[in-house]
Amino acid sequence: MLRGFALREAAALIAAITRVAAEAPFRHMITPGGFRMSVAMTNCGEAGWVTDRKGYRYQPTDPESGKPWPPIPAAFLGLAAAAAASSGFAGFRPDACLVNRYEPGTRLTLHQDRNERDFAQPIVSVSLGLPATFLFGGLERRDRPQRVPLVHGDVVVWGGPSRLNFHGVAELAEGEHPATGRLRYNLTLRKAL
Ligand code: SIN
Ligand code: FE2
Repeated sequence: MLRGFALREAAALIAAITRVAAEAPFRHMITPGGFRMSVAMTNCGEAGWVTDRKGYRYQPTDPESGKPWPPIPAAFLGLAAAAAASSGFAGFRPDACLVNRYEPGTRLTLHQDRNERDFAQPIVSVSLGLPATFLFGGLERRDRPQRVPLVHGDVVVWGGPSRLNFHGVAELAEGEHPATGRLRYNLTLRKAL
């Protein structure tokens, strides 16, 4: 947990999210089971995480447009490398960034991030805007998750023995944030390929 690690750059990160979303708009993807995700998502990087009736995967193009995802903004890359390095993961060079957008009422059920090729690489997660409760479980879905409050500017890094831990986000409470209004954004930077 790196509390406030992204605070100084938060405004620049939010501006960069807006530019990414102008090229690759936020959308509600469909799970393989046919459910519409309440979290709206987009991606930047060489590969983007997608889900549809065919399954979960990384793909180099945006299925909505057929075009490559926009590049990862330099500000995301620098922050991710610095956060990983301060957590003991030197040389982290992400090639994929999933951008999640939550509104009050949105939640993300417990899951593992396991579509990446190399589990030796950590996940770096950046929280912006409205606060949320991060659920950080164990290696088994049934392990009771810790409830970790996350606020604007917090960064979480998980890797090594906890790389495949189940995690999710509890239903977002109603609120208003000076930087994002009625929204929470989360960036997860990954080495996917
Ligand atoms: C994720 O697991 O991809 C997102 C976590 C978060 O929104 O904090
Ligand atoms: Fe995740």
